[in-house]
Amino acid sequence: SEPLRLGIAGLGTVGAGVLKIVRQKAALLEARSGRSIRVSAVSARNRDKDRGVPLKDYAWEDDPVTLATRDDVDVFIELMGGSDGPAKAAVEAALKAGKDVVTANKALLAHHGQALAELAEANGAVLRFEAAVAGGIPVIKALTEGLAGNEITRVIGVMNGTCNYILTRMEDGGLTYDEAFAEADGLGFLEADPNLDVGGIDAGHKLSLLAAIAFGTQVNFAGVELEGIGKITIEDIRQAADMGYRIKLLGVSRMTGRGLEQSMAPCLVPAGSPLGQLTGGTNMVVIEGDQVGQIVLRGAGAGEGPTASAVMGDVMDVARGLRVSTFGQGAKGLVSATPARATTP
Ligand code: HSE
Repeated sequence: SEPLRLGIAGLGTVGAGVLKIVRQKAALLEARSGRSIRVSAVSARNRDKDRGVPLKDYAWEDDPVTLATRDDVDVFIELMGGSDGPAKAAVEAALKAGKDVVTANKALLAHHGQALAELAEANGAVLRFEAAVAGGIPVIKALTEGLAGNEITRVIGVMNGTCNYILTRMEDGGLTYDEAFAEADGLGFLEADPNLDVGGIDAGHKLSLLAAIAFGTQVNFAGVELEGIGKITIEDIRQAADMGYRIKLLGVSRMTGRGLEQSMAPCLVPAGSPLGQLTGGTNMVVIEGDQVGQIVLRGAGAGEGPTASAVMGDVMDVARGLRVSTFGQGAKGLVSATPARATTP
C-alpha cells in the first residue's frame, strides 16, 4: 500500500523525538500499521540548530502553512505550540486541504478545538491530539476506544508535571515555593510563560479537552474554575501533612444536575492514595466509568520520548485508517450518552 507521508512543523524536543522514531523504527511501524511511514518535509524557526537528526533528507519549508498544504504531505504534524498565530493558521490550512492533522498543542485545542474539529469533519479529515493531554499517557485513546462502552462518571488527575514537581520539592525537600520554582526553571521544566504552568492554565487546557471527550460536550475552557499553586506555602504543606494529606494541583470534571463541572485547583488528597503518592514531574489521570469502575493511568506528562510516543500513536491510528472523531459533531454519543451541556459557573 501507499506510504503515509508526514509534514512536521516545529522541531523542538518533541519534533526531534518524532523524527527519531520514524527513522529508527521504520520496520516496526510498517509491520504494525501495514504502511511505511515517511517524513516528506519539515519546518521550524531555526534551520541550523543541531537536533541530533540530519534534516537534509527532508524538504524544508520556512512557512508552516506551505508545509501543511504540500501535495506530498498526507498528515500535518503541528508541534509549534501557541493558541493562535502560525500554529492555528497552519492547522486550519491543512484541514481545509483535507489533510489529517496530529498535534500536541493543548492551548490551541482548548481555545479552538471545537471549531477545528468541525472544520476537520467538513473536509473529511481527522484531527488527533493524544500528545496534548498528559504527554505519554494514552488517556484520549483510553476514553475513546477502550472505555467506549462506558458512561464516564468522573475524570480527575494531575496534568501538569511542573506543578507536581514544585509541590513535591516543597513537601519532601522542605523548599520554599520560590526555591522549588527556581529549581524547576533550572531543569527547563517551565513553559515559555511560566504562568501557564503555575497558574494552572496549562493543566486547565488539558482538563477541558478530557472533559469534552469524556462527557460528549463542547470544549469549554472558559468554564474551568482555575486556581494556580502560587499561593501555596510551606505552612499549608505542613498542615496538610499533619492531617495525612498532600496538596496536589488537581483537575476534577464530572457531570452534575447543573451541567458539566470542571475545576483545576490545589486540593488535599490522602497521602496514601495513588494521587497522594504521585511525586516529581509525573502525571496521573483517574477515570471512573459505570462499567469499568475506577482506572488509574500514570506516566510521564512531558519530555521527548513520552510526547513523541503519543504523537506516533496518533500517526499509527491514521496509518491504520481509523477515522473516528475525538470530539465535535461526529463524536456525539461516541463516549457518553449524557446530553451535551456545558455551563460556565
Ligand atoms: N508544562 C507542561 C507540564 C508540559 O509541566 O506538564 C507538558 O504539557
